[in-house]
Amino acid sequence: MEELSIQNPKKEELTFLSVKRSDPLEKWLWGVATSAHQSEGSNVRNDWYHFEMLPGKIKKGERSGKATDFWNRFEEDIKLAKEFGMNTFRFSLEWSRIIPKPWHIDYSALARYQEIIDTIRKHGLEPMVTLHHFTLPKWVANEGGWVNKRNLDHWKFYVATVAKNIKNVILWNTINEPNVVIAMGYFTGIFPPGNSFDIPGYVKAIRNILLAHGLAYHIVKRYQPDTAIGIVKNIAWFYPYRRWSFSENLLAWFFNYMFNEITLRALETGKLPLSAQPNEFLKDSIDFFGLNYYTKSYVRIMEPGFVAMSKPHEFTTQMGQVPYPEGLRLAIKRVSKLGKPIVITENGVPTLDDKVRIAYIEAHLREVENAIQKGYDVRGYIYWSITDNFEWAEGFEPRFGLVEIDYKTLERKPRKAAYWFKKRIKRFKYSRDTF
Ligand code: FCB
Repeated sequence: MEELSIQNPKKEELTFLSVKRSDPLEKWLWGVATSAHQSEGSNVRNDWYHFEMLPGKIKKGERSGKATDFWNRFEEDIKLAKEFGMNTFRFSLEWSRIIPKPWHIDYSALARYQEIIDTIRKHGLEPMVTLHHFTLPKWVANEGGWVNKRNLDHWKFYVATVAKNIKNVILWNTINEPNVVIAMGYFTGIFPPGNSFDIPGYVKAIRNILLAHGLAYHIVKRYQPDTAIGIVKNIAWFYPYRRWSFSENLLAWFFNYMFNEITLRALETGKLPLSAQPNEFLKDSIDFFGLNYYTKSYVRIMEPGFVAMSKPHEFTTQMGQVPYPEGLRLAIKRVSKLGKPIVITENGVPTLDDKVRIAYIEAHLREVENAIQKGYDVRGYIYWSITDNFEWAEGFEPRFGLVEIDYKTLERKPRKAAYWFKKRIKRFKYSRDTF
């Protein structure tokens, strides 16, 4: 595959971008996010579709099915985002739609994605496109998914296909939450391939997915140099359940290291986990840092898997999480050490109560405002999610949306929080004159 060799980019291959901006992140991004499998519907060629068929994998035996039918109704969601005062729309491409079989491109899928992008622009929003958001084509998963390094050739083919064909995108994300997808797939077993405590699998997969990020960065840059490309990483803090417990303190340190530090240090040093030498593709492979932030957890010896989501008296969300806005400040502080602009690429809360949603967003936006005042380089805030959607192993129950979905009719009903958010944007304290 000479064409895909990325060592010597040919000048004439550095293609088009009809939309240009000198600094793609000069404007503050207010956005909403979604992902392909959680919203498009009828995604039948990926590993999740098959995982959902297995008994006991998804709460209440639910399946993504039609999801929110974003594949057909995307314009409604884009228009709503515009109505709520947003200027950015984050979504992801489904690898298994674009490359349904090895080395085979489905141009009609690419055309649909281009239509989504053009529609986002038509309504005056900036598209932010994620190349990989948790799902793998089933045929890649059958060959070992991220554990098998040879699948990186297929990844390169997919990314190059996208970069050569998709136009008018400036903001790209390579991989969404590499640490989450690999920990859930190979450690807790909650995501496909469903392996628990598979340490060799975990190590190989985390190395390969980080390398995949580095490769994607360079491939997209080669075809579209005038872009800003980031990785999206979730930061979650682990605290000892009992402050005085030595073993819980030690374990909390270990979990923070495994979950947060491994990826951050790989990006800082350019070294893949367990490698002594920097990797040429991983080194200098982000233009901005996409920070996803939701919650904290406790480390508890008594708990199966050692993680407790909450303590008895604490307020919890539909998914049992404890809101912890201060943690966003700590996350911004930690990732700022990478020296790159930070975009909050996800933050949100699963709840049926919009007062909770408003309080959650308010508390986190205040942390962002404080961080900016202290000089941290944050460039945007993207809420998860524009609509309710399929929340992976939790099924359809958690309601993250600014817009409610009636799953019988797929009708969209904006929640109060959406209009509150629109007003809140006007009060946001950001020192540059941006919107
Ligand atoms: C993040 C995922 C996203 C969604 C939210 C609630 O970890 O990136 O797909 O599931 O959590």
